This record gives sequence, structure tokens and C-alpha cells, in this order.
Amino acid sequence: MKNKFIAAAVIIAMTFGLCSCKEQHPETSDNSLNESGANWTSGDSEGSGFRPTKPISTEPNPASTNESTNSENSEPIDEPIEEPIDEPYVEPFEEPDTSIDIPDGESIRIKSGEDYIAKSGETVVLCGTSEIEEGGSLTIGSGAELLVYGDINLNGTLEIGGEMSIAKTASISGSGRIIVEDSFNQINCDGHVTATIVPPHPIEVDGVTYVGGVLVANKEHSLPENYGSGLTNGLCSALEKMRDESGYSFVIMSGFRSYEVQKNLFWSYVERDGYDNAITYSAYPGTSEHQTGLAVDLGWVDDRYAYTEEGMWLAKNCQDYGFIIRYPQGKQHITGYIYEPWHVRYLGKSTAKLVHDSGLTLEEFLRVEG
Ligand code: DAL
Ligand code: ZN
Repeated sequence: MKNKFIAAAVIIAMTFGLCSCKEQHPETSDNSLNESGANWTSGDSEGSGFRPTKPISTEPNPASTNESTNSENSEPIDEPIEEPIDEPYVEPFEEPDTSIDIPDGESIRIKSGEDYIAKSGETVVLCGTSEIEEGGSLTIGSGAELLVYGDINLNGTLEIGGEMSIAKTASISGSGRIIVEDSFNQINCDGHVTATIVPPHPIEVDGVTYVGGVLVANKEHSLPENYGSGLTNGLCSALEKMRDESGYSFVIMSGFRSYEVQKNLFWSYVERDGYDNAITYSAYPGTSEHQTGLAVDLGWVDDRYAYTEEGMWLAKNCQDYGFIIRYPQGKQHITGYIYEPWHVRYLGKSTAKLVHDSGLTLEEFLRVEG
């Protein structure tokens, strides 16, 4: 790191952009207090400072005509009146050091033992090839933003407390880790990520489990009986778009299924095939993704769907529309279910792409039991 910009230079560089390859540079909008409590108001150093409007005098003024102390016979005086000001003295405002090293404003190289932190209001733009070496880390704090337009060789840690956008031609690869602090909504990924993603811990809200905002429904994470009311709008519009752009019909063979519907279905399969068989392809009531409104069976509920043109197109492209093939071949020991080339789960475009590119099942990606 040769070029250490001073804070102001970095802020100007980040705000107006020194990077020639970037496609866009969203304005930073949130310059208010950050979550760590730093009271820096970027770009308005005067607004929050104290400026006396009159000179402060502590000396008594023999010619004072102050009305509160003046006698009735005093002559009017044209001189400006100096009043004591009893407002407290405030230390001159000092901006915190927010500088980080970005050689040429194009790429960054962080070595072992180095930790660079982008603070609230800052935008870091990376083009070219950046390196985060093993033992090094780049932290995008809450309220900060990372725009990736080039490639990052990540062998250290990239911690996302703010937001990260990865452009279509960009990539993050290597043996390092991307730590997502709160939600997968913090990431907008059009590019390619193969580095390990560490999700936040699961949380439970009203009996439903979420990991980083992603709802989990599987054998180990059930839903309340009254959960769900239909397919979500997000899924429906994504499906519509996929139909339009692919030219395939993607007929919904099974969409939303309430707890009651799943109960009847499951026990009918048990009657037909026995419990041990039924549980490999049908979810116990309260554990089906169909109850979430975020999953559908498309085309043909048959293994041979995988070999149809439509099924092959779905497997190859569905992540670009926000879907994943939820129960992939050979992963029954992880997901709990046999291969279902027709069952897709809607995650939203960015998260579906991250899961797809990871090569992991949803259970592995979210680090939950299945
Ligand atoms: N076929 C899937 C596992 C379900 O019943 O939800
Ligand atoms: Zn299904």
C-alpha cells in the first residue's frame, strides 16, 4: 500500500470516482450517524460545528449601556455592544480518519495482518484485480458500500455489514470467506462468486426459521400449521418472466399447498407406498416448501423431466430468474429428498445465483440441518 490518501481525498475520490471502468457510481446518500455512534456528518463540517457570532469578552466594559444595567440619563452610544456569551466552549470539529488504501483507485491489495474498514457513508469501488491475502481482511461496515467491477482473489476475509454489488463481469474467488453479517439482501450479485459464503446464524420469527432473510422449511425446520396463503408475488412474476424469455410453458403442476392439503397428500402416499418410502419424496405435514408459497412443481412430475428440453433449460437457467432446483441429484443425504428436477424454490435472483454458483444445496449454503 504505497498511496495513503488523506481522508478528504479518499472521500472525494470515492464520491466522484477515479475508477474508469465502473459502469455506474450510485451516490452515497446516508451521511447521518452511523450505527457505531460516530458523530461525523460527512460533507457538512460547518453545519455541526460551533461558531461564535460575536467576540467573547470577559472584561467589564466601563462604557456599557446595556439596558439592564444602564441609568436613565445615559447617552446613546453607537458602538456595537459586546455581550458576554455564556455558551460552552466546544472543541473544534475533527473528522475521524476514514482513509483506506486504494492504489490508483482501481484495485486493492490487503496483506496478512491488515484490516481495512470502510465506514458508514463510504463507497469502495474495486476494478482490475484485487487481492485479499490470507490473514488480511476488508470490512464493509454498516452504511458503507462495496462495488465490485473487477476480480477479487479472496484468500482472507471479506466482511459485509453494509452492502455489496458484484457486476456481471466481476468475480470473487479463492479459498477465503465472505461473511454476511445480517441478510442476503445486503448482496446484489450479477457476477460470479465461488469463495465460501458464511451466512448469519438462523433466527426464528413467529415459529418460522430464517437464515439471513431466507426462509427455511425442511425436515428439521417446520412451519406453523396456519402459515401460508398462496404463491408469493415474487415467485409469480419471476415465473412469468422466465416463461416469456425462454419460450417454455412451465406449467405449474403443484403450487401452494396448505398444511391440510399436505397432510392429506402425505398420508395418502403413506397408505400407497408405506411411510419409509413416502418420506423420501413427500414432506411430512408442516415441513413442505409448498406451504411457504415459495416453491412450485413445474412441467412434469417425473424423473424424465430432467431429459426434456424444458427440464434441461430449467436446470441450466433457472437461477437467473431467482429459482434453484431444490432437491438435486445425489443429495438425498443432505436435503432428505430424492432428486426432483421439477421442484424449484424461489430465492430471488441474487441469492439464487449465489447458491447455484456455490454448487451447494440450500441446507449446505445456509448451514442448517436438513
Ligand atoms: N416433494 C416435496 C419434498 C414436498 O412434498 O414438499
Ligand atoms: Zn414440489
